[in-house]
Amino acid sequence: MKPSHRPANPNFSSGPCAKRPGWSPAVLNGALLGRSHRSAPGKARLAEVLERSRALLRLPDDYSIGIVPASDTGAMEIALWSLLGARGVDMLAWESFGAGWVNDAVKQLKLDDMRVLDADYGALPDLGAVDFDRDVVFTWNGTTSGVRVPDGAWIAADRAGLTICDATSAAFAMDLPWDKLDVATYSWQKVLGGEAAHGVLILSPRAVERLESYVPPWPLPKIFRLTKGGKLNHGVFRGETINTPSMLCVEDALDTLKWAESVGGLDALIARCEGSLAVIADWVAGADWTDFLAREPATRSCTSVCLTFAGARAGAMDRDAQARLAKSLSGLLDAEGVAHDINAYRDAPPGLRIWTGATIERADVEALMPWLDWAFAEVATELPVG
Ligand SMILES: Cc1ncc(COP(=O)(O)O)c(C=O)c1O
Repeated sequence: MKPSHRPANPNFSSGPCAKRPGWSPAVLNGALLGRSHRSAPGKARLAEVLERSRALLRLPDDYSIGIVPASDTGAMEIALWSLLGARGVDMLAWESFGAGWVNDAVKQLKLDDMRVLDADYGALPDLGAVDFDRDVVFTWNGTTSGVRVPDGAWIAADRAGLTICDATSAAFAMDLPWDKLDVATYSWQKVLGGEAAHGVLILSPRAVERLESYVPPWPLPKIFRLTKGGKLNHGVFRGETINTPSMLCVEDALDTLKWAESVGGLDALIARCEGSLAVIADWVAGADWTDFLAREPATRSCTSVCLTFAGARAGAMDRDAQARLAKSLSGLLDAEGVAHDINAYRDAPPGLRIWTGATIERADVEALMPWLDWAFAEVATELPVG
């Protein structure tokens, strides 16, 4: 039977992610447009984004937080280009974004003392093998496989190297142990449903110390430069951005931060994400054609929930046939207006990926589940008889 109840918001894309409940373009009416970002009110808005973000994320007072160009990719590449090369590095990768950072280190920075600890989609590398005398680069939540590190217990408290963490689909959705992270990055477009274009870079005092004591051997473009005369450019971490930001995006970020505060702050945001994951987990437990791509329950993402095909029929199909099935399923749900953009990431195993970041309503996830079964039954004619 075709379900009669639809999700109120069918936007389940993994990025840009759904705007916060109740958002409309009217929230941007007060944006400081046509004015300099270096004017007093411009600087004040940028500083307000940083202060509200710092408070929501519960950053330690001695950590620095700044807005940088080029979304999460920009923030991560600023960190990699500015910090790596001072000591050996362990690069961790278990899906396509982590693999992208490995590619930067190998092909662009051409680091010679580098180890790659990787794992296939669905698993984590051996975290016990990481050497914290070295720098360590990893992704907290692998958006394309739906596998996250379960916590920070595997990270040495007394490390000599720096931990550099791409936290873009984890920040505001998962409990990040700041004492274990020297660098963390994210983009507004993810868990809080803001806009892309700008990244956020968080630095521990030890990361700042590295910046002030180490000059990398490769050139740094202007938009990567965080130091001036060997000292941290503190202005960047007060809202004096390296180049011109979009004050429209800044206004939108302020709106979503205020919304996050209004629903109860970080604990409430985490609970929203975990609640949606629990809805999907309950449904998966009763479904005979799908399963989580993440094999270990403790590693299952509460933001980018990746499902793969399973069971005697869908699970037995070859990859190309599964990819066609996923395309039909997601296409049907898209056409019905119940779920947009939920086909798995192009390089990941075929399946569905449902975003359950903080802006997603649990009721919408609940409403979506019967549609998945309906859509599967509709396209089941493509399946071999089991
Ligand atoms: C883990 C991870 N890293 C990096 C990126 C790239 O982010 P952006 O496009 O905001 O630079 C994404 C985007 O989905 C991501 O999920």
